[in-house]
Amino acid sequence: MAFSRLLIALVLSILSLQVVARALGRQPHELIKPYKRAALQDIVTWDQYSMSVHGKRIFFYSGEVHPFRLPVPGLYLDIFQKIKALGYTGVSFYIDWALLEGQQGTFTAEGVFALEPFFDAASQAGLYLLARPGPYINAETSGGGFPGWLQRTEEIYRTPAYVKYTDNYASNVGAILAKAQITNGGPIILLQIENEYSDALNGITFPNKNAGIVIPFLNNDIAPEGWFTPGNITGSVDIYGHDDYPMGFNCMVPSTWPVNSLPSNFRELHDLESPTTPFAIIENQGGSSDAWGGPGYGTCAAWFNEEAERVIYKNDFILGTAIINMYMTYGGTNWGNLGFPGIYTSYDYGAVIAEDRTIFREKYSEAKLDANFVMASGDVYLTAVPTESAVNGTMVSTDSLAVAPLKSGSTGFYVVRHSDYTSQESTKYRLTVPTSQGNIDIPQLSSTLTLNGRDSKIHVTDYNVGGTNMLYSSAEIFTWKAYDSYKVLILYGGPGETHEAAFATASNGKILEGSGVTIKPTSGSLQLNWAVTSGRKVIQIGTELFVYLLERYTNRDDAYNYWVLDLPSPSPVNNFHDPSNTAVIVQADYLLHTATIQGSTLALIGDINATTAIEVVGYPSSVTGVSFNQFGPSTAKNSWGVLGGLATYTAPTISLPVFTDLVWKVIDSLPEARPDYDDSNWVNADHTKSTNPFPFVTPTSLYGSDYGFNTGNLVYRGHFTANGNEDNAGTFSVSCTGGLAFGFSVWLDDTFLGSWAGDALIESNQQTLTLPALTAGQKVNLTVLVDTMGFEEAAPIGSNAMKTPRGIMNYGLSGHANTDVTWKITGNLGGEEYVDKTRGPLNEGGLYAERNGYHLPNPPSGPWEESKPFDSLFGAGVYFYTTSFDLNIPAGYDVPLSFEFERTAADASATQNYRCQLYVHGYQFGKFINNIGPQYSFPVPEGVLNYSGVNYIALSLWSLSSAGSAVESLQLISTATIQSGFETVALSPQPTWIARPGAY
Ligand SMILES: *[C@@H]1O[C@H](CO)[C@@H](O)[C@H](O)[C@H]1NC(C)=O
Repeated sequence: MAFSRLLIALVLSILSLQVVARALGRQPHELIKPYKRAALQDIVTWDQYSMSVHGKRIFFYSGEVHPFRLPVPGLYLDIFQKIKALGYTGVSFYIDWALLEGQQGTFTAEGVFALEPFFDAASQAGLYLLARPGPYINAETSGGGFPGWLQRTEEIYRTPAYVKYTDNYASNVGAILAKAQITNGGPIILLQIENEYSDALNGITFPNKNAGIVIPFLNNDIAPEGWFTPGNITGSVDIYGHDDYPMGFNCMVPSTWPVNSLPSNFRELHDLESPTTPFAIIENQGGSSDAWGGPGYGTCAAWFNEEAERVIYKNDFILGTAIINMYMTYGGTNWGNLGFPGIYTSYDYGAVIAEDRTIFREKYSEAKLDANFVMASGDVYLTAVPTESAVNGTMVSTDSLAVAPLKSGSTGFYVVRHSDYTSQESTKYRLTVPTSQGNIDIPQLSSTLTLNGRDSKIHVTDYNVGGTNMLYSSAEIFTWKAYDSYKVLILYGGPGETHEAAFATASNGKILEGSGVTIKPTSGSLQLNWAVTSGRKVIQIGTELFVYLLERYTNRDDAYNYWVLDLPSPSPVNNFHDPSNTAVIVQADYLLHTATIQGSTLALIGDINATTAIEVVGYPSSVTGVSFNQFGPSTAKNSWGVLGGLATYTAPTISLPVFTDLVWKVIDSLPEARPDYDDSNWVNADHTKSTNPFPFVTPTSLYGSDYGFNTGNLVYRGHFTANGNEDNAGTFSVSCTGGLAFGFSVWLDDTFLGSWAGDALIESNQQTLTLPALTAGQKVNLTVLVDTMGFEEAAPIGSNAMKTPRGIMNYGLSGHANTDVTWKITGNLGGEEYVDKTRGPLNEGGLYAERNGYHLPNPPSGPWEESKPFDSLFGAGVYFYTTSFDLNIPAGYDVPLSFEFERTAADASATQNYRCQLYVHGYQFGKFINNIGPQYSFPVPEGVLNYSGVNYIALSLWSLSSAGSAVESLQLISTATIQSGFETVALSPQPTWIARPGAY
């Protein structure tokens, strides 16, 4: 319904263009006039090879980041600069509808939910954006991005009948996105329609007509099935793309890779399905999500590690990929209940940038090498086409290896990997490839090359290094740049490997630094052959070309420590990547993120965690000195012109609170289980009808969403009058559904009846609990507290799984008909008319302390008792603790902090069944389940924490066992101490507690 007739006409015209192209006898990879919505805009265009922006081909090399998983707009720039420093040109982001229209008809995107700060930071860092507003996003979010009220609709999700519910969101968010399109000076260049919509139900929708979206539409097919390719069906997109998660999601054992999982026929499918659009992988694996009870993100990062990047990303390049998006590049946090039940609070994803924003993982550095190679290869790569699929043993001396060739004009790219991509063998080989000087057998000056284990290499032939033809290289290219009077080429290899490169030049070469390089002039070329060792080798060829031969690893002088930093371009490109503009090449550790030229000084901004030498190996001749983070290291120039200086690290004094030393206040957060508790203000659970397709079997619906309670804990009060028929061994049985790892506890008046303490693999459970002695005529209150873990997602198309209810599903009471019990229900105060507009519709649940806002800063805890969560063992129940402390982290340092629970040895057997929710300035930043795990560390970003002032934290402690529980240990630790050029981080809004009228 969202597509205009114009679009259908255009789709038809592409079909005819294809017919014309075929009639003219063109080969599939010859330029076919692309389908363009030329009437709408001409800044972002594309053909079958790649996109172009402002008329220049660009690899949309993107990292996925979700603004809603980092509620600190002041940190977006930091994330973006770390992505830009990888050599990426873009970022893709989802928008979570559930957070922006928590109440049907009321769209709000303010404060931490505002999108404009994300757009501004992208422009400042210079990253183009792919907007993915859904309305359905999946994304391991509660409901896959569907708001809870959508549970009450009858229409089947993601079909035409449901689309009307998305109108308000789509028009509002569409207007925000439209303003930030590149055509209006913003960073957004692409818009994805829906998400993984791989079906013909025609629900794929995003209203463009009214919203004024003029940039290209693309989709992400869940697999290369060919849905919505140009011309496929009405509503087709401009650029077709799909997902690729070759490794799957089982990261239990880091060394175990799934067999035969590397895609081999994607290019053939693309040429059949969408030959007029660039090869686009809209989600390419960057790690894995992890579930309750899972191995933890450290393990997932070790599993989808730098080796996986090398093998999988290079396999992507050989397909001719020109649009790629690494999911995730920064995962962030499922704060405030925004996740679905299949994940816990952390959404680290084992991504290249960890949840605490550090880049210590080797996979960050490897991702930088991979991206820089294709960026340096520019149009040569972007117009290259695969000439055949990887064939075992072709062009290579052993069947254990597969080589896939890609050709662009005279340049060849040969991707070598093990035929069995999981192989850990060390395999020797020789490569025989065609060049402008005939077929060459590589290496010439030594016997073999080696592929060590899970690795893949891109060997090149006839590769143009700024006018010098590199005839071949077995070493990989990190980058090359041509400056006014010289050129720099950086090659690297793995430790212990021998490599060879040859240049079609009559010039000779000399060693400027290092040793162990054989330099041999032959007729028509100059050959270099060397063993890769730590410590660089620098060769000068002729007067102009400086070749750096590096090892891959992280030691000083190694490839991982080199950075290619774009210098700003003239408007309108500014900080965005301009393939024809100059960049500098700098060696430094641990991060460089921007370079500008100020007068004759190259001003570098970056982060260090130790004193580090900085060397500028490639720069324009106007530069004579270097500064780092506004202060100038004294700069020296070496014999061949490299500028060097020292960036000095000064360790700061960081003092962090010791939680056991602080004064904590406590309040009982389950007054419902006290005899005097008054629930008269609660909502009556009296609906006798529900539109939910899962029919309720109780006398009235007890589904949370039927009463507008869609998040966190639900609390039920069941009232009945004892009739004397309950018996001695009478029972109350109750079954609840809350999603994986959920739990519930039941009280009869103030008597604890029992709990379901949860299981990582169980989403519904029934408990049959023994009643205490009751007297006929006695008025009895049941209290059932249910932890809900978010809504299920709504995939595949047409699935109503997201409507799976939350709360009490059924119950039975000895001696009673079910109609004898009348129920009341609560979740968060106000339900969908939620109170805390700052922290959004999902952040607070139905605990008494949450309903009263005691998780917010400065709660009225004066009269509360003093008690620490560590030193008391209460019985089953819920206690709510608050404390405050000052932080005074010195300016100029980035010190990520993390709240660390400790699981003691005694607890490994999970004898203590308890759940905690951690609040920092009211933002719920941790849901900790002691008896399930695996998350014990909860990073909380600066901006939620106040680094120079008072911090209010709160902790709910729900003990599910009559034995009670205590938190063994909770510490605030720093996970890095980085001396940073990053500017001061603005605090996210932190409105304090005020009395809530009508709170109960
Ligand atoms: C559209 O693509 C799908 C998936 O490849 C295919 O099943 C369907 O037949 C196509 N429809 C048309 C009209 O081409």
